[in-house]
Amino acid sequence: MNISILINLTYIVSAVFFIFGLKMLSSPATARKGNLLSASGMLLAVLATLATRGLNFQWIIIGALLGTVLGILSAKLVAMTAMPQMVALFNGSGGLASLLVGWTVYNILLSPDKFTTFTIFLSILIGGVTFTGSVMAWAKLSEKIKSNAILYKGQQIVNFTILAVILVCGFFLCVNPATSYSIFLAIVFLSLILGILLVLPIGGADMPVVISLLNSYSGLAACAAGFVIQNNILIVAGSLVGASGLILTNIMCKAMNRSLSNVLFSGFGATVKKKDAEYQGEVKPINVEDTYLLLEAAQSVVLVPGYGLAVAQAQHVARELGEILESNGAEVKYAIHPVAGRMPGHMNVLLAEANVSYDQLFEMDDINPLMESVDVCIVIGANDVVNPAARHDESSPIYGMPIINADKAKTVIVLKRSMATGFAGIQNELFFFDNTRMLFGDAKSTIQNVLGEFKS
Ligand code: TAP
Repeated sequence: MNISILINLTYIVSAVFFIFGLKMLSSPATARKGNLLSASGMLLAVLATLATRGLNFQWIIIGALLGTVLGILSAKLVAMTAMPQMVALFNGSGGLASLLVGWTVYNILLSPDKFTTFTIFLSILIGGVTFTGSVMAWAKLSEKIKSNAILYKGQQIVNFTILAVILVCGFFLCVNPATSYSIFLAIVFLSLILGILLVLPIGGADMPVVISLLNSYSGLAACAAGFVIQNNILIVAGSLVGASGLILTNIMCKAMNRSLSNVLFSGFGATVKKKDAEYQGEVKPINVEDTYLLLEAAQSVVLVPGYGLAVAQAQHVARELGEILESNGAEVKYAIHPVAGRMPGHMNVLLAEANVSYDQLFEMDDINPLMESVDVCIVIGANDVVNPAARHDESSPIYGMPIINADKAKTVIVLKRSMATGFAGIQNELFFFDNTRMLFGDAKSTIQNVLGEFKS
């Protein structure tokens, strides 16, 4: 059989693996297998591509070794809490790769046909924006630079003007692919600048949406690069990443009750924040012994995990607490907010790692109608996702974001180390409510102490 037919047949098998792998990622029960299936699809695609005639294996081996070392190191060394930053860098690498593919092919062909030139233009524009946009997102998330929205007068006019200049240059390039090389370089340069400028006005809790959008862009850039080098699996894989990234972006926008344009242009974080003195009520601390007494008497308990659970690595003790409460006769549920933690599915991953049964996990829309009948709601290192200000305070930067209605439970116990704010940088009025008790300390050791009370 002709080698190119064999390669394309293998690509079809890879594409099927990708599609079923993605489908399986949509449920925690099948996510691990889905990941393995997609990775196997990628291995097949890489092996098939290596069978292409006329490759220079010297550079491929160097690249593969470098990529393998970086992949293993980042998988082992990067903390779960730093995943969004890592994903940002991965997206950026994808964007840069597409830009370099487009640039290299343009240099080799010198005067490519109009369609190839158009795809080169797209891979440079989308790849360039993805690369610098992702580096900016990484710098903001890892706090290498200020993470809030940076706004200035006429910002959108500047951004639209740069985009318009890129499109005009792109038009001239596509009409006459052999046009002046400086027009081509201007497209590269302005695309890189545009990526930085587009991420500048985005900050705070909107960053995860941007990461997801940039992920989608990296797929579109790869798809364009696939057309440039006429590689079918790159086109398919790029389209899948582009589409799934857009779907995830949409889901996240909905979870925060925002439109995408509002996220991209509204300048989150520039909103005025309330001073602590403006909060009604007082903070009421509780100790481990009294917490035990409350929990011992509770018939129904809801645990709301948040970013602090990940920091404290308290998922195993949280599961143990759930089990002990159940054996004490209480009904135990875990309430999962779609943007709790620092990446989509963060809480699901942690609780799955601790073997919490999937049917105990409740999504926000399913748990909220039940909250009024809950005896005790234990908030474990969550903050923004249980802040009632999101429901009514129009001046709050998280206004409109649906929250888990922890405050509706008869008693709320909040586990955190201090009165420090969460990701959005705003105080939480829940901590001042009459039915709230603050159990200060690291979530893991606090839960261990409560477990100690149950066991003694
Ligand atoms: P946050 O609002 O960020 O609050 C986390 C809380 O955990 C903090 O107030 C902190 O208070 C506490 N904490 C930290 N370490 C702790 C420890 N060892 N033990 C106990 N508590 C600890 O978390 P959230 O409620 O999960 O909300 C997530 C936020 O992140 C949202 O604003 C969301 O938009 C944003 N975000 C989400 C994502 C995704 S996709 N999930 C990605 C990036 C950003 P102390 O310091 O006082 O302990």
